[in-house]
Amino acid sequence: MSQSELNMKRLPRHVAIIMDGSGRWAKKRGVTRIRGHEEGAASVRVIVEACRELGVIESLSLYAFSTENWRRSKTEVNALFRLLNKHINLEIDNLHREGIRVVFTGRKDGLSKKVMSDMESSMEKTRNNKAMILNIAVNYGARAELVDACRAIATEARDGDLRPEDVDEDTIAERLYLPELREVDLLIRTSGELRLSNFMLWQISYAEIVVTKTFWPDFRKRHLHQAFLEYQARDRRFGGRK
Ligand code: IPE
Ligand code: IPE
Ligand code: MG
Repeated sequence: MSQSELNMKRLPRHVAIIMDGSGRWAKKRGVTRIRGHEEGAASVRVIVEACRELGVIESLSLYAFSTENWRRSKTEVNALFRLLNKHINLEIDNLHREGIRVVFTGRKDGLSKKVMSDMESSMEKTRNNKAMILNIAVNYGARAELVDACRAIATEARDGDLRPEDVDEDTIAERLYLPELREVDLLIRTSGELRLSNFMLWQISYAEIVVTKTFWPDFRKRHLHQAFLEYQARDRRFGGRK
């Protein structure tokens, strides 16, 4: 399938991806899970570029490490962070040249100083870029994000800066990790799993969901365009009627 089949006026403006299936990809080939994650990093590069080149996608959110992923073996967790560090440093100049603003969202606790400082410097370097937001969710959980928003609201209320009766949906949306993100239009999950695994629960309320059987390390531009085509065939009603 080629880009020319896509309706450029009806592309999702915020795309979120649960990049799943690297372990099963590796198992199928008889290689280590870590090898699967390495291949997954190559898909990240391709998909970021494919979104950027369309020119109309405002934000791409990628689920890289969940608050629950600490339950994996230490070897796997360490390898995931080593890869994250390596690829931030390899890609940051290229992303900056492409005008991409890189943001990491998630909790800071548990992250090493090295990972934190590399994340912070890449956010700082690209903060004024306007072409696209690349939101990488690391140590991210949607429940944690909502808890953090609630804590902020409770603190403001306690200090007399916010009245409980003034709390509305915007009050919450404005206290999420990256308030300037629009709601998610399209959520893609690779590897066939039909669940949300604690990803952006607030922001996906009216997202269209596309699940593909393809494992993340095999996910390429044609799969992305296929997901866009599926999205374009959907009738988004937002609870109303046409
Ligand atoms: C997703 O692939 C990557 C991360 C969660 C970091 P998995 O590692 O979950 O792959 P499967 O689900 O075991 O195949
Ligand atoms: C979700 O995938 C997290 C990421 C892709 C980072 P998981 O593989 O961790 O989710 P479950 O355990 O299958 O729900
Ligand atoms: Mg998985």
